[in-house]
Amino acid sequence: MGDPTKEGVKSKKGKYPVCLRCHAPNAALSKTTKLDAKPAFREGVNCVFCHTVTGFKGTKKPDGKLRLGQAAYEVSDTSLQAPSGKDYSTSPADQNGSPVSKPFHPFPMEGGNAVVFKTNAICMGCHDRRNNFHGVPLCATGDEIVDSKSQVTCQSCHMPMVNGHANHSMAGGHDGNMIRRAITIKLDVTEKKAGGYDAQVMMKNLLPHKFPTGAPFRIAYLKVAAYDGDGKLLWQNFKEHPLKDDKQAVLVYTLGDKEGKPSMPPKATQVLGDNRLNPHEERVLEYSIPKKGVKVVKAEVYYNLLLPKLNKKLDKVLTKNLKASKLAASSEVHL
Ligand code: HEC
Ligand code: HEC
Ligand code: HEC
Ligand code: HEC
Repeated sequence: MGDPTKEGVKSKKGKYPVCLRCHAPNAALSKTTKLDAKPAFREGVNCVFCHTVTGFKGTKKPDGKLRLGQAAYEVSDTSLQAPSGKDYSTSPADQNGSPVSKPFHPFPMEGGNAVVFKTNAICMGCHDRRNNFHGVPLCATGDEIVDSKSQVTCQSCHMPMVNGHANHSMAGGHDGNMIRRAITIKLDVTEKKAGGYDAQVMMKNLLPHKFPTGAPFRIAYLKVAAYDGDGKLLWQNFKEHPLKDDKQAVLVYTLGDKEGKPSMPPKATQVLGDNRLNPHEERVLEYSIPKKGVKVVKAEVYYNLLLPKLNKKLDKVLTKNLKASKLAASSEVHL
């Protein structure tokens, strides 16, 4: 979107670059595009941005347009905001009766802003929904939560309480441990009278948003494999990647151009398909294994941050960890 060290960068339509409203909200508040002018600009979504939020205006304007990121929030430029009336002006140790050492926090945090901090409001400004320039929805985690009718908050999973404090690491797709909490799978295998086996895989999304949610280049897929007694592979539901030979096994959001060919998010003019698991959905996939002598069948769901095409294209710049398929769930049957 332009040079992040230059002032006055504009979008193609001649407007302030919308990306910065979510990715660099402090810079957006100052209407600057020179992200190296202050640490608070280049830090992106930092402490000060969230902890100066005083209210959430919602992301949908009366005219149907979207208020994105920083524009969806009211912020204070004089005081920090906190979820409760807890006193952070002295350290927790001091509050337990030991002599006051030094101020724990240079500013008192104005307590009681629970309506924003304890609810999804503090996340929705940036995670609700975002369209590309053609009006095609890219991320829609917020809409997904609303559709699920779930009452559980984002914080309960993404900011769990650890030692009395809300963990701020915001684990998501980059965290293999978080991925393993998203779904469960269950495999059933029966031998057919005519020879071979029937395999049934049940996948259940445990989340109140889609799996995978968020950025449209996230992808997950099911691998089903049958082995003999020596661990030799006899059969698998795909050769290289199921995108080629077993589309039902791929959980992905597919965007396309006018001609109906798959395209990258900024250029998409239509949604070609959405095979991700819906919130709390249970889905059963069936396979016929045309082999004899199967002793072990394994079903595994893997998650990738990027579509195979992007992994290949960005091969040189990405670390191994960013390209790796992460195991989300597995189930196996011994015959
Ligand atoms: C000011 C905008 C903003 C707010 C408010 C915000 N986020 Fe984010 N969040 C982002 C952006 C931008 C990213 C992507 C950062 C990147 O990948 O560089 C992100 C990434 C994430 C991720 C993914 C991490 C990963 O592994 O890729 C999770 C999970 C997340 N946010 C959860 C939350 C939750 C929960 C809240 C509310 C408590 C919240 N966010 C509030 C802008 C925001
Ligand atoms: C994406 C928004 C977001 C960012 C960024 C953020 N916070 Fe928070 N913070 C929250 C929310 C939401 C809560 C309330 C969590 C709850 O109580 O469920 C919170 C709670 C807190 C609390 C009080 C509650 C506690 O757990 O003790 C402190 C102190 C705090 N944050 C400090 C920080 C600091 C320091 C940073 C930067 C390193 C930071 N926050 C960055 C959203 C954010
Ligand atoms: C029941 C626990 C749970 C709740 C509640 C929850 N999430 Fe998640 N979230 C997860 C898990 C597990 C993942 C990883 C799997 C995935 O990407 O779908 C995830 C993934 C994400 C990601 C994708 C990160 C990436 O790297 O692409 C975002 C963004 C996100 N959540 C935002 C939210 C927001 C915003 C809310 C509240 C509106 C929320 N989540 C509520 C558990 C939860
Ligand atoms: C409405 C808020 C919003 C706007 C506007 C926005 N983003 Fe994002 N972006 C996010 C969030 C939230 C994520 C976190 C990932 C997710 O949801 O899965 C993200 C993720 C990303 C990622 C992926 C990072 C990763 O972890 O893989 C890239 C790249 C990105 N955004 C680029 C852009 C660009 C370029 C623009 C402007 C054309 C833009 N974004 C505009 C909210 C926004």
